[in-house]
Order: sequence, then C-alpha cells, then structure tokens
Amino acid sequence: MSESVQLIYNNETFEFPLVEGTENEKGIDIKTLRAQTGLVTLDPGFKNSGSCKSEVTYLNGEKGELKYRGYSIEDLADGADFLEVAYLLIFGSLPTKAQLDKFQDDINKEALVDEDLKVILKSFPRSAHPMGALASLTAALTAFNPESVDVDSDEDMYNAIVAIMAKFPIICAWTHRKVKGLPLNYYDCNLSYVDNIAQMMFRLPNREYVANPIVKNALNKLLILHADHEQNCSTSTVRIVGSSHAGLFASISAGISALWGPLHGGANQAVLEMLEAIDADGGDTKKYMAKAKDKSDPFRLMGFGHRVYKNFDPRARIIKKSADEVLNDLGINDPILEVAKGLEQEALNDAYFVDRKLYPNVDFYSGIIYRALGIPTEMFTVMFALGRLPGWIAQWREMRKNNEPIGRPRQIFTGNTNLPFQSLDQR
Ligand code: CMC
Repeated sequence: MSESVQLIYNNETFEFPLVEGTENEKGIDIKTLRAQTGLVTLDPGFKNSGSCKSEVTYLNGEKGELKYRGYSIEDLADGADFLEVAYLLIFGSLPTKAQLDKFQDDINKEALVDEDLKVILKSFPRSAHPMGALASLTAALTAFNPESVDVDSDEDMYNAIVAIMAKFPIICAWTHRKVKGLPLNYYDCNLSYVDNIAQMMFRLPNREYVANPIVKNALNKLLILHADHEQNCSTSTVRIVGSSHAGLFASISAGISALWGPLHGGANQAVLEMLEAIDADGGDTKKYMAKAKDKSDPFRLMGFGHRVYKNFDPRARIIKKSADEVLNDLGINDPILEVAKGLEQEALNDAYFVDRKLYPNVDFYSGIIYRALGIPTEMFTVMFALGRLPGWIAQWREMRKNNEPIGRPRQIFTGNTNLPFQSLDQR
C-alpha cells in the first residue's frame, strides 16, 4: 500500500498521499487539500513547497550533490563541453557525435540577430546595467521572431530552442561590447559555441583573436556549473511566466530580470564589490565579519549561504580549484584575492557561520575568475545568464510538455475589510 499522511482538523481526519522521487525524497501531495478541508498552506519563499515534478536536475543540499539528468556535476565539469551539457539538459540524454554536430549546425544557421536590435542597444546610455539591456534585448527578440511555439510540434519546439541558443550569446556579447565601447561583432560559424562566446566578447577590432586555452577551459567550466539549478528563483520565474503560455523568449526575458537580484545571480557582482570595498577600507576582514553577524546591521557576507545547500556548494568546490588554476596560469596577483581568502578562512571557522551552515557558494569564486579574465564587474550576472540559458529552456520545455496548469498561488489576506468609501473631498 502506498504511504500517506494524515491531517487532523476540526476533529476530522484527512489523508494525503506521499509522492516519492527517484532519489527517495518524499513530499506530501496536497493537490486536494483545499477541496477536502477548505484550507490552504502558507509558505513564504516556498521553503517547503515543491512546485512541480521534474526530471531535469537533482540537488541534495544536505549532501552537497548536484546532478544534471543523472550525471554528476563533477564529471560533467571535468569531461564535457558546454554545448553537450546544454543538449543533455534540454533533450534529456547526452548527444551522439551526429546529434551534437547537427545541433551545432542548426545553431550556426540561426546565429544572426536582426540589425535593428543594434538601434535598441544604441539607445541605452553607456552607463546602463548590462542585465537591463539583456532583458530588454531578449524581450525585443520576440518582436523580431514573432512566431509562437506550437509546443505539440517537436519540430517547432526544436526550432525555437535552436533560435534562442544561437541568438542569446550574440546579445550577451553585445552588452559587454557596449560597456567597453567596442564595435558590435558577429558569430563565426567556423568556431565552436564556447569559442564563439570568447571571441564575440574579447575580439578587438584591430587584431586577430587567439583563444587562450586556459580562458576557454575556465569559461567552459563556469558555463556548465551555472547551467541549471532546479527550481531556483529565475527558473521558477521562467516556468511560471511560461505557464500562462507566454512564449519561450518572453519567459526567458522574465528569468533574466529575476536573476539580476543580488540575492540570486546578482550576488557574483555583489561579492566583487564587497571585496573591493573591504580592500579599500584597509582589508580588515574581521570588521566585516562582525558587521555580517550584527543583526542590527543589514550587511550580509555576499557569496555565503544558500537556500538549499546546507553543506558545501559542490559548484563552489570545483570553481575554487579552477580559480586557483586561472590565477596561477595567467600569473595574476590580485589583492582582492587575499581579502577573499581571509574572509573564507574566518567564516569557515566562525561559530555564527558554522552553526547556520553558511558556506561559500558558487558566486564567491566565479567573480574572481571573471575578474581575472578581464570581464567588467557589471557583466558578471550576464555571464551567469549565458550559462543558465539551457536550464531555463529545459525547464520551460518540461513544463509545457507536461501541460502544467497556470501558476497561481493562494494567499492569506490580512488587510482591512468592509471600509466605508469616502469621496476625495471628504478625506
Ligand atoms: N551573511 C550573514 N548572515 C547570513 C547570510 C550571509 N550571507 N546568509 C544567511 N545568513 C543568516 C541569516 O541572517 C539568518 O540568521 P538567523 O537565523 O539568525 O536569523 C540565517 O543565516 C538563515 O538565513 P536566511 O536568510 O533565512 O536563509 P535563506 O535560505 O532565506 O537565504 C540566501 C539564502 C542565499 C539568500 C542568503 O544566504 C544570502 O542572502 N546570501 C548572500 C547572497 C548570496 O550569496 N546569494 C547567492 C546564492 S548562490 C547563487 C544562486 O544560486 O542564486
């Protein structure tokens, strides 16, 4: 007999089935809760609520495990190319050589954006935040690619996926070139997907771009590590926007806005700014540790803590090693790194952080690598978005294929009731 959970309310006993995932995690299926009892649940921040069943990404916060479609993040970061991982996440299995070649060819065919998009980008001031420009340009893509996706047609769905995979790196690179005041350039169909990202971002107009293998390897790893993270804030946004049957590009543009916030993808920028501020203030890490622990001070140690990981963030472990390699190989001696190392050591040995299980997360180290690669701080979250794109697509596709209902949470109303209306001249 399948397991269930009983709820006693008003002397009546109600029964709800348990659902079990393939890694044995269990949840209470409360789909009939309101119909049976008249009650709803209250769970701000969805700390205890599952919004869907998903086959894409498995995350065990207690053990510090992360798997994409059953493959460990360590193996993928070590042996795979970002485009293979994108294919895996979106379509469910690792591609054969023929499948990967076709995916790359199809992306190459779509790797142009309408020239008029340049006009939109040009109208932003140079000081505009690249994430704002990226969200706008992604939304603008819907205007230049108006056909809506027929989710019942595999071909239609595939074409939409290929189109966004092809066009997104171009607009991401353009936001970087705008910040740097460089001429906008194009995708090169003779290069791989990751090489294209590097050349579109870094190529100078007056010289040939020669890919540095260290840079390429670090970029590939960073993109893979950011590619999906189950039902996080931006992914939930993409799913919920898509659940109204808004198109793929529109849903992803909403995800970009969700990612921007400093408690989510914007943390990588916030980490670097925090490290720079501590360095400029004399590098006294103890002072900032004290501020982070002081409940009357809003300061938080950016890059520490995670909603789900209550052990170590497995992505942080991989990226920390990569950060050391990049800095050694490129011969970079950065005072910011000393501040980072000091904070990390103190936090790992501090009772406040240990008791609350606050460990360095992926963003603590990713910013250090981006900085070493010469990427401006305000571009860090765009780099996160580039990596997260396949995850957003995979989750959107799964949601539409499963024909999930429109996302529409309930609430507990705590406002005024029955106030007598007074016209403006009587107030
Ligand atoms: N510095 C100081 N105290 C912290 C921090 C921090 N970075 N993070 C959590 N705490 C404390 C918090 O004050 C609370 O203390 P108490 O129990 O005494 O009230 C306790 O730890 C639990 O925190 P919470 O805010 O209830 O935890 P949450 O799960 O709601 O928040 C978080 C998770 C990531 C938003 C939070 O840890 C945070 O703000 N971290 C800094 C921002 C950051 O690095 N974000 C990137 C996340 S990784 C990238 C991604 O996947 O988006």
